[in-house]
Amino acid sequence: MKNAIAILLLLGVVFTGFNACRNVDRNPRKTESFNDGWRFYLGDLSDASDPVFDDNGWRELELPHDWAIEGDFSEDHPSGSGGGALPGGIGWYRKSFFLDQSYEGKKIFVDFDGVYMNSDVWINGIHLGHRPFGYISFRYDLTPHLKFDTENVIAVRVDNSEQPNSRWYSGCGIYRNVWLTSVDPVYVDLWGVYVTTPEITEDNAVVNVKTTVKNEMPQEVNLKTETSIVDGSGKQVASASVSGTLAAGSSKEIEQDLSVREPVLWALENPCLYEVVTRIFVDDKQTDEYVTPLGIRYFTFDAEKGFFLNGESTKIKGVCLHHDLGCLGAAVNTRAIERQLEILKEMGVNGIRTAHNPPAPELLRLCDRMGFIVMDETFDMWRKRKTTYDYSRYFNEWHERDLTDHILRDRNHPSVFMWSIGNEVLEQWTHAEADTLDIQQANLLLNLKRDETALAGTDGETMSVNALLTKKLADIVKSLDPTRPVTTGNNETNPANHLFRSGALDLIGFNYHGYDYKNVPENFPGKPFIAAETTSGLMTRGYYRMPSDSMYIWPVRWDIPFTDPSYACSSYDNCHVPWGCTHEQAWNDVKNSDFISGMYIWTGFDYLGEPTPFWFPARSSYFGIVDLAGFPKDVYYMYQSEWTDKEVLHVFPHWNWQPGETVDVWAYYSKADEVELFLNGVSQGIKRKEGGKHHVFWRLAYETGTIKVISRKNGKEVLSKEIKTAGEPSQIRLTPDRRVIRGDGQDLSFITVEVLDEEGTICPNAENLIRFNLSGNGKVVGVDNGNPTSMERFKASERKAFYGKCLVVVKSEKREGVIRLAAESDGLMKDAIEIKVTK
Ligand code: GAL
Repeated sequence: MKNAIAILLLLGVVFTGFNACRNVDRNPRKTESFNDGWRFYLGDLSDASDPVFDDNGWRELELPHDWAIEGDFSEDHPSGSGGGALPGGIGWYRKSFFLDQSYEGKKIFVDFDGVYMNSDVWINGIHLGHRPFGYISFRYDLTPHLKFDTENVIAVRVDNSEQPNSRWYSGCGIYRNVWLTSVDPVYVDLWGVYVTTPEITEDNAVVNVKTTVKNEMPQEVNLKTETSIVDGSGKQVASASVSGTLAAGSSKEIEQDLSVREPVLWALENPCLYEVVTRIFVDDKQTDEYVTPLGIRYFTFDAEKGFFLNGESTKIKGVCLHHDLGCLGAAVNTRAIERQLEILKEMGVNGIRTAHNPPAPELLRLCDRMGFIVMDETFDMWRKRKTTYDYSRYFNEWHERDLTDHILRDRNHPSVFMWSIGNEVLEQWTHAEADTLDIQQANLLLNLKRDETALAGTDGETMSVNALLTKKLADIVKSLDPTRPVTTGNNETNPANHLFRSGALDLIGFNYHGYDYKNVPENFPGKPFIAAETTSGLMTRGYYRMPSDSMYIWPVRWDIPFTDPSYACSSYDNCHVPWGCTHEQAWNDVKNSDFISGMYIWTGFDYLGEPTPFWFPARSSYFGIVDLAGFPKDVYYMYQSEWTDKEVLHVFPHWNWQPGETVDVWAYYSKADEVELFLNGVSQGIKRKEGGKHHVFWRLAYETGTIKVISRKNGKEVLSKEIKTAGEPSQIRLTPDRRVIRGDGQDLSFITVEVLDEEGTICPNAENLIRFNLSGNGKVVGVDNGNPTSMERFKASERKAFYGKCLVVVKSEKREGVIRLAAESDGLMKDAIEIKVTK
């Protein structure tokens, strides 16, 4: 605090009471969506960057766009089934745009949130740059190349032709949002505000704000930087102002400390957000206004007691998520991400690991707003490749830039609590020591500018290149953000692992190896610990393999394609990969050990690609607790019973079997001390959870009719659930997640489609083909059913039901009105719904 006061005095900070109401019109900064009006061509052309190139025949579209999701599945696509068995290739995007005179004299930038991958950008025929990393956000300065009141042409070439370059589905194209930013030439630099909260008490929070201001005027300017903090209701709660000069063509960092009295803390259940509003003035004329999110919270990772948020012991109950959005592919859509997070929150999830790359900015904004503890991850590989054409090819040249940009972009998000610089990078392995780099090459890579002794650790032990590389990456992160721990996901748990040996990791992260957690305190004395990745259970929604207490550890072998005629994994939590374990086991490994900060389960949702344990025609994962369409699998309710305060009673499987067949009935429950099952009214016994199990089960001889389970506490009924034998499919039921959506051309309604018998019981094995007919102000943007082996297209107006269900996603147009959706199928009674589209 003393230092901060000294800096403030040095800078001549004056606290003022200027009006903090945000006047958007007055703001010389404009951030406009640049998603509209693009044209797209799938294929390569030699002259498409030329402004006069005739693109009239190209397809018109709006970004974000993922061309791979529009394709057909095929074993022959070079991505392989690991990459989702969808096409890659090269694509071109072009957009013509006009800027009127009001833009003259402004700095004008184009901001790409992410392009997969190897993008090149031209403005009016001038090459602006190349960016290989498909998950990084980047900016180009258009200013010197623009013309006003006449056409400008931006062209983007995207090259995702060399595959495989990913262990999961990446998507192809400009799959995240693009922005046109214009601002006066004295402005806050890209990601130029850094906000921290060095001191927090009940009465007061000190908010430290570092602002990098750039002067691109030809002369020195008199600069005033006003910073205010605004609470959720728009009320200004703190402000500070500092004046000085800024030389022509230079930038400087301005540091201010502000105080928020009686701060409302950002917490998981009440993620209270403030905003830091930065205003730049030159000679009292405002030249910029820049808004940064602020959540006031403090946390510690403790080696003995685990994670504490705002002083409260908090177990991180997280899931890993890949970036695709099921049938929407990689194309970012805020509502689709929000829906995923809502479904996970309902299950009791409080953490997200952005496996294994920088996420879309929208994900972090939602996590800020909804209260999640994010492990924000940069790389899945460093120099050593995992797939033939992956980022390892670019690592030497690009890692400093990409890592720096990632941290700068994300470091103000209150939801981000830790940085992961790598997932299972092959540099970790003790046997990876024999690196072929000589000292000179190593020093070049590590940019250490030291002589041979650089490879000697302080303890006299020789440090490997890989350990030094770990240290270099961790140092980059810490130089940009010392407030959060740096970690990695490791599947070599030996303390001799090069990453651990670097001593540079603040938080030890294991992927799997639950049996080894107990050795952590001894092997890593004084270091906090997180189960960075757990479980890898395998499940197909709706499929049950009995007996339910037999384990299926799949794939049995790696070297030959593993198959099972079902191409399905059992939903009883009795199927997992050899390196993983059941959900029940993984949670138990973490639950009762205080020193474990928490866990991130592999994975929250199914994702495209990595269809372990099968090969093609399997093309999406079996790992999700929720399937690709967003329908929870049964184990979802185990977590809900353990991770929330809800009264839970979930009974499965369905009740459509062969007479006499032996069927295991499971129940997950909470808030009760026993459950009793009745088959056609006859009790099959009372069960209680025991031996660390989070489920109970009964083994029955099937007979048609009804099973009913009652949960009781102190002899009183808490909940009851009935499952009936369904008759033949007879009707369709449509249930939208939202009946009113915004007419912004982006908002979505996710409609669950169920096949029911005459009485309204869901037919658990129905596979009827459902056809959709939409009229009104919207369109169908995707269909799915969660079947990891379906070869049906995601962009279609029909879908087969899978275990009784499928999904149709509709998107609004940019106007008010109504969307009418009808669903029909041969021999079934149809259903229709209306969705209101509001302003
Ligand atoms: C982990 C890896 C994940 C995923 C998972 C599947 O080892 O970090 O990316 O591949 O295995 O079980």
